[in-house]
Amino acid sequence: MDVKPLWKRTATAPGKAILFGEHAVVFGFPAVSLAVDLPTTVTTQAYDREPCTLEGSAEAFQRIPYLRETVRCCGGRGLDVHVRSALPRASGLGSSAAVTCGLAAALLSQGSSPLDRAALAKRSFEAEFSAQGVGSPVDTSTLCAGGIVSVGGKGYGKSLWEIPATGGKGPWKVDRLPDPGWDWVVAYTGSPKATGKVVSAVGKTVATSGTAVVEKIAAITEKGIAALFKGDREEVGRLMKENHHWLGELGVSNPRLEEVAEAVREVALGVKITGAGLGGSLLALARPGEETRVARAFARQGTVPFIVKISESGVRLETN
Ligand code: MEV
Repeated sequence: MDVKPLWKRTATAPGKAILFGEHAVVFGFPAVSLAVDLPTTVTTQAYDREPCTLEGSAEAFQRIPYLRETVRCCGGRGLDVHVRSALPRASGLGSSAAVTCGLAAALLSQGSSPLDRAALAKRSFEAEFSAQGVGSPVDTSTLCAGGIVSVGGKGYGKSLWEIPATGGKGPWKVDRLPDPGWDWVVAYTGSPKATGKVVSAVGKTVATSGTAVVEKIAAITEKGIAALFKGDREEVGRLMKENHHWLGELGVSNPRLEEVAEAVREVALGVKITGAGLGGSLLALARPGEETRVARAFARQGTVPFIVKISESGVRLETN
């Protein structure tokens, strides 16, 4: 006979693509991040027994630090977790954060009350940081907020919440930025990259060479925020190219990313690495109505393109 769960909750989280400022945000400088409509659905059922399982396997659950740390930070036992995602794993598009935020939303849910998004963002980052050991709250806060946000820096729009300093970095202000209503093109290169390793390598580079490059990136991000407020598409595209150049100087590009970026640059207003780099994904902004042309240019380079819209909704609980 089937045992009935104590509760069952389904949460859906968007994906994310960083428009400006990845890596610099780890050092407290600002980043701009987009919640995009590539959903991950996390279904959680709680039982009065141990252990926790992922897709029915206790071993699989134990193998994923994000899941273990989310349960440690948010509380819970006897959980069966099932994940369905449109995101490729370790692609720079927020797949780990989506699972973390989706499970945290289920665990922190207070019945029919709306989710406390500030609390959810703080706990989700705590879990992600414990699992990864490095990083900023840009992924988790984007997924909790939805829309377009700035994370870090001095604050640029309507304040949403602040994430406390962690691991000697931060705190990070999280603000709502205006959405000019454009479609975006993201493309997965097919080579997964673990964010933690790349962030640690950049940390070593900055420790030996100083913060000059991350400060250049921070200046571009500030100009990018001003361009978003004006809805200046050409300027956003131009700044994306500049940001890409400095990510290369930071050591997170490689010949494959450069080859793809160069081919797409011919047809797009802007293209850049998005996320940690050294693999993962690129983000492009097309001229109005030319998203398919840009997606085709990405596909010709053997990458997997997605034309995406901004997901105005952050992680949300479905009514089961
Ligand atoms: C990863 O999506 C973005 C990085 O800036 C790392 C982080 O902020 O945690 C590379």
